[in-house]
Amino acid sequence: MKVTVVGAGNVGATCAQVIAQKNIVQEVVLVDIKEGISEGKSLDLWQTAPVNYYDTRLVGSTNDYSKTAGSEVVVITSGVPRKPGMSRDDLISINAGIVKSVTENVVKYSPDTIIVVVSNPLDVMTYAAYASANLPKTRVMGMAGILDTARYRAFLAEALDVSPRDIQALLMGGHGDTMVPLPRYTTVSGIPVTELIDQERLDAIVKRTINGGGELVNLMGTSAWYAPGSAAAQMVEAIVMDQKRIFPCCIKLEGEYGLNNMFVGVPVKLGKNGVEQVIEVALNEAETELLHNSANSVKKIMDVLDGMNIL
Ligand code: LAC
Repeated sequence: MKVTVVGAGNVGATCAQVIAQKNIVQEVVLVDIKEGISEGKSLDLWQTAPVNYYDTRLVGSTNDYSKTAGSEVVVITSGVPRKPGMSRDDLISINAGIVKSVTENVVKYSPDTIIVVVSNPLDVMTYAAYASANLPKTRVMGMAGILDTARYRAFLAEALDVSPRDIQALLMGGHGDTMVPLPRYTTVSGIPVTELIDQERLDAIVKRTINGGGELVNLMGTSAWYAPGSAAAQMVEAIVMDQKRIFPCCIKLEGEYGLNNMFVGVPVKLGKNGVEQVIEVALNEAETELLHNSANSVKKIMDVLDGMNIL
């Protein structure tokens, strides 16, 4: 089984590394436009195999998509990352053109693949990939929810002094300032989180989660990669291992949650066929309003992109 990661920057290389170490596929192909980078990084990663005990072969390719032929899953991380002061939406015109051409190249050699988009602005780039791929909506999805819930869970684990493994959480909406963490659907080993933490601390954690990516951009001068790369690798694992895991992922909605033709994060079941089920949980009025606000703000950027005639 083969998986391709397009973009050998920090996120792509981390994603390739985590997939390789999971030892779940025979080959990971890393593609980049910069001569030698993907070859170098995959060679370096392959040399960790004897140390970290895995068999996954790593192959680099400078823009030669024939090497990606027959990929079960393709992760697209290509695009420019955020700099301090930039929102994810500021990246739209540059990254949409990149995502479109990458998607077309990918699908040319792997016509039945499943695409996981990581490029920002995430929800709109998922739309760009969907519009360029000519694949069913179950086979094109964006990675944001696992990352955003991971941040939320990590902050909660710290605040409660418990293992992050025991924190289960749900978060919906777009990957940006309007994302919707759902404390009502957050538990610590089944115990509602609201029983373990007061409202004020919980609100502060929700706020920090929403700004989680921005906090890192401010610290490092560029956007994060360990958690984004690992989160994308977890989606790949769920698909190639047919795990039927439930994760919040960005997908095309066709009426679910009262949203039509929108791309935002909702809980889905991931297995060998990609998105195998969209799970519609009951939301109260306030939560529904937040989700719809978030979807509308993504839609506005989708409309801006449509106006650019790039897709
Ligand atoms: C973040 C970027 C990758 O949230 O969107 O860190």
